[in-house]
Amino acid sequence: MKLYIISNRLPVKVANPNGTFVFSRSEGGVTTGLDSLETSYEKHWIGWPGICVNKEKDKQEINEKLLELNFHPVFLSEAHIRNYYEGYSNSTIWPMCHYFYAYTLYKKCFWQSYQVVNQLFCDEICRLIRPGDKVWIQDYQLMLLPGMLRKVYPELCIGYFHHIPFPSYELFRILPERAEILKGLLGADFIAFHTHDYMRHFISAVERVLHIDFKLDEIQIGNRVVRVDALPMGINYELYHNASQNPVVRQAIDRNRTLFGNHKLILSVDRLDYSKGILHRLHGFSSFLEHHPEYHGKVTLAMVIVPSRDHVGSYAELKTKIDEEIGSVNGRYSTMNWTPVCYFYHGFSLEELTAMYYVADIALVTPLRDGMNLVAKEYVASKCDNTGVLILSEMAGAAVEMTDAIQINPNDSGQIENAICQALEMPAEEQKLRLQRMQKILSVQTVNKWAADFVNGLDMTCMKNDSLRK
Ligand code: UDP
Ligand code: G6P
Repeated sequence: MKLYIISNRLPVKVANPNGTFVFSRSEGGVTTGLDSLETSYEKHWIGWPGICVNKEKDKQEINEKLLELNFHPVFLSEAHIRNYYEGYSNSTIWPMCHYFYAYTLYKKCFWQSYQVVNQLFCDEICRLIRPGDKVWIQDYQLMLLPGMLRKVYPELCIGYFHHIPFPSYELFRILPERAEILKGLLGADFIAFHTHDYMRHFISAVERVLHIDFKLDEIQIGNRVVRVDALPMGINYELYHNASQNPVVRQAIDRNRTLFGNHKLILSVDRLDYSKGILHRLHGFSSFLEHHPEYHGKVTLAMVIVPSRDHVGSYAELKTKIDEEIGSVNGRYSTMNWTPVCYFYHGFSLEELTAMYYVADIALVTPLRDGMNLVAKEYVASKCDNTGVLILSEMAGAAVEMTDAIQINPNDSGQIENAICQALEMPAEEQKLRLQRMQKILSVQTVNKWAADFVNGLDMTCMKNDSLRK
């Protein structure tokens, strides 16, 4: 039996910098998390390979290479990327789900393309699956897909996981296609979210938009039920916890130590995204420097920002503002031998990233909204020597489990400033205690456990539906 994971993006992205195809690891929580998952099923993955190609020969070359990994590419055109990916997915749904109402764009061509691409994914799945296989759909780019598949295969076992926040009904109701989206999702047997709050919001949207009532965590639709649950995604704990034993990581750790000298290192790692509170973080750091001259020359903020969705206007504007803000902080406080903000605008390999986690004294994670935030979890897992402090926004899904972090409201730069001071002054014994408590949770709630819980929930619901059909 096969488990088909379906997501907009494959864990591998393809580029063609100078005439040959280059394959590298995708960034972003969905693919990094799920890619390290081990299951008893034969795992197949269907998704976009991150590049637009027109020639059949090129498609075939990419296809062959990806097939070796059980990855099945869905090729999208430039118009699809503009209207389905940058458009409906990332200019309509993403800002709405992250409470950025003012950034939400509505265009007919976005919605049309969203339907077309969801249908393309549906066709590819139908081409590949065989009786007994299971389908697990990931995230907001594919919310119509469960309903489309259900039409073709009334008895197929379909799961859906929503990796971003599900907003309150008051926000969700503004979406013109709210009913179609909910009906699409309800094509699944089992639907799960990172937190209980997101799940409650979804239930309330279904009840108020579609006028169907839930009985606890279930609703009846025709001769089947749909069940919902809250399952926080974890990480591959061992991978991060043992990373520093890898010689390549060790070398990178030594390099970083030379680079940052005796400075206390504050680290942040995100995709370039307005939901991540990058400007709020810079304002907090700047007010920390303003009010604490005693730390000048002694603390460096290393910001890893991975380029993301840079053709979407709101992202491109954010990039300019970040560049300006970093320039302003560095211009104001730099000395001949100290630059307060060390800025990397590119992705890091797993080895480089884990080496950064290892040497960072503080991780500063300040999203204004975030479905989960795996970076916060990866940082804590990587601190195998039990030194380090996590500062975490209470608006991240991860805040529910990571109660031993210093939690802050990122809208208050004073809280960020105070949290940095508290972290810098935290006694070693307290750092150890907090890290160990969080590590205990992370080592149990791993990505494998999360997936096993999901597949188990899916199996139970599908079994119930099989018996209801008899
Ligand atoms: N990441 C990466 N390389 C980088 C920066 C980030 O592989 O240079 C990964 C990081 O390890 C994490 C993911 O990207 O697993 C980001 O996931 P998160 O949940 O924090 O945020 P998302 O990007 O999904 O919103
Ligand atoms: C978030 C979303 C994912 C997405 C990832 C990277 O984690 O929940 O669905 O894949 O960001 O974004 P991108 O647009 O580059 O795929």
